[in-house]
Amino acid sequence: NEDGGKPGRSYSLYDQASNLLTNVLNPGGSGNMPVAEGAVSDLFGRPLFFALYDWFMEHGPIYKLAFGPKAFVVISDPIIARHILRENTFGYDKGVLADILEPIMGKGLIPADLETWKGRRRAVVPAFHAAYLEAMVGVFGRCGQRTVDKLDGLLAGAGGEVRIDMEAEYSNLALDIIGISVFNYDFGSVTKESPIIQAVYGVLYEAEHRSTFYVPYWKFPPARWLVPRQRKFATDMAQINATLTDLINQARDTRQEEDLEALQQRDYSKVKDASLLRFLVDMRGEDATNQQLRDDLMTMLIAGHETTAAVLTWATFMLAQNPAAVAKAQEEVDRVLGDRQPSLADIKQLEFIRLIVAESLRLYPQPPLLIRRSLQPDTLPGGHNGHPEGHAIPAGTDLFISVYNVHRSPYCWNDPEAFRPERFQESRPGFEGWAGFDPSRSPGALYPNETMADFAYLPFGGGSRKCVGDQFAVMESVVGLAMLLRRYNIALAGTPEDVQMQTGATIHTKDGLWCRLSKRQPGTAVKAQEQAAVTV
Ligand code: HEM
Repeated sequence: NEDGGKPGRSYSLYDQASNLLTNVLNPGGSGNMPVAEGAVSDLFGRPLFFALYDWFMEHGPIYKLAFGPKAFVVISDPIIARHILRENTFGYDKGVLADILEPIMGKGLIPADLETWKGRRRAVVPAFHAAYLEAMVGVFGRCGQRTVDKLDGLLAGAGGEVRIDMEAEYSNLALDIIGISVFNYDFGSVTKESPIIQAVYGVLYEAEHRSTFYVPYWKFPPARWLVPRQRKFATDMAQINATLTDLINQARDTRQEEDLEALQQRDYSKVKDASLLRFLVDMRGEDATNQQLRDDLMTMLIAGHETTAAVLTWATFMLAQNPAAVAKAQEEVDRVLGDRQPSLADIKQLEFIRLIVAESLRLYPQPPLLIRRSLQPDTLPGGHNGHPEGHAIPAGTDLFISVYNVHRSPYCWNDPEAFRPERFQESRPGFEGWAGFDPSRSPGALYPNETMADFAYLPFGGGSRKCVGDQFAVMESVVGLAMLLRRYNIALAGTPEDVQMQTGATIHTKDGLWCRLSKRQPGTAVKAQEQAAVTV
């Protein structure tokens, strides 16, 4: 490693690569599927998805990649993604991902086996009803205001400009929001540190470590005592479980049986505890054990926290390099919102901000790879420019759908590397087997989605395992961005190249998103040239 391995940096895959990836190239291949051939060094010092992209350019829509004894099929094509995610959705489970996440999320929706998943998905999806989402917009605004108050305080003490790691700020904001909205627990992480916050970050960090570490050494019982990070993980889990169990017991003790219609008709803005936990206990509390509820809450805590923080981080990174987009966004926020806290109706009006969120998710999808394992033999379509007869795969095949590759595919997108939120207002013709991009295919949608793009755009996955928190997440990101853009001018503290990437479950920076923040006069849309002048 060139920098000698700074403390705190996770080398994860790359470290192990030196020991285990001596045989990245699997000369045998499988049937008619190309095999990725490159140097092992292709994988060093950069996130895995960069190498997967280069091999996509070289080998086409589907290829096989061998990691030591293990082989993965890598997919970079909307036609094949559509087949796996929608057309044969129950022919696949989460494979490696479930192995990694089960010790943390138990039988929560993401790693759950099919039977458990069916029951819990039916219970969880109705919890994201319209009245709940509307109430959550208020939570996003109140938590966003805390971040604004904190930044205002820092600016006041720093003479008008402050250097700050915005990734860390977004992470705190997203943690506070997810705690209140999922189980009505205020972490208060924007303003303070506490043992439970440390425990949650510890578990998130471990989830990430496990998702990028090749050997599941934590499965060997002695590792739990011998390896310090595994001892810490056990302590962190115990602390979070105790808090979640308390919250579940409290919710059960105050349970009121409700029917869905009555619940939805309530004025949620006046409900003290509008959390998902409250809903799950009141609606179908007897259906789920405490353990299952814990697993559901833990899953949503992890699934909903880092993903949204990452969207805000990369949106800010791109905006700081695109003054014209900032000017357009600020003009929209001034016009629609002025000084008010955002409402659901405002979010519908903040079209350009929504497109910024969508474009950030296209360039930096969270997670960048979807992981699946085939439960039965299947025949995958060849995909664009692929093998006309497709590819037979046996049961037990591990697959990566590289959302990063699909989102940046030159076959599906014009100028795919460019940050251009307006692209989602334009149509693009398709090719054989792919319907192209057409916004009119999903009229009135809150965000550009996989239906418009016929699976060339998968920010929240697609098919039966699609994200349950998609609308929640888009609204949260829009409120967060709108509240910051109307008050501050944000420039990168260094060059874009200084901001290096690292991947775990999501794409995040290696050393933080360091920005220079200064106050903006609310109500004065910054002209593109002026903004350019403050952007390094
Ligand atoms: C699933 C992305 C926010 C809960 C997924 C999947 C993606 C995704 C791509 C599909 C995974 C797969 O097919 O393997 C995102 C992004 C978010 C976000 C980009 C933020 C911008 C949230 C939030 C919640 C949530 C806020 C809950 C409060 C879930 C759950 C699943 C899931 C429970 C599993 C669904 C199932 O298997 O039935 N998410 N998510 N996500 N997400 Fe999200």
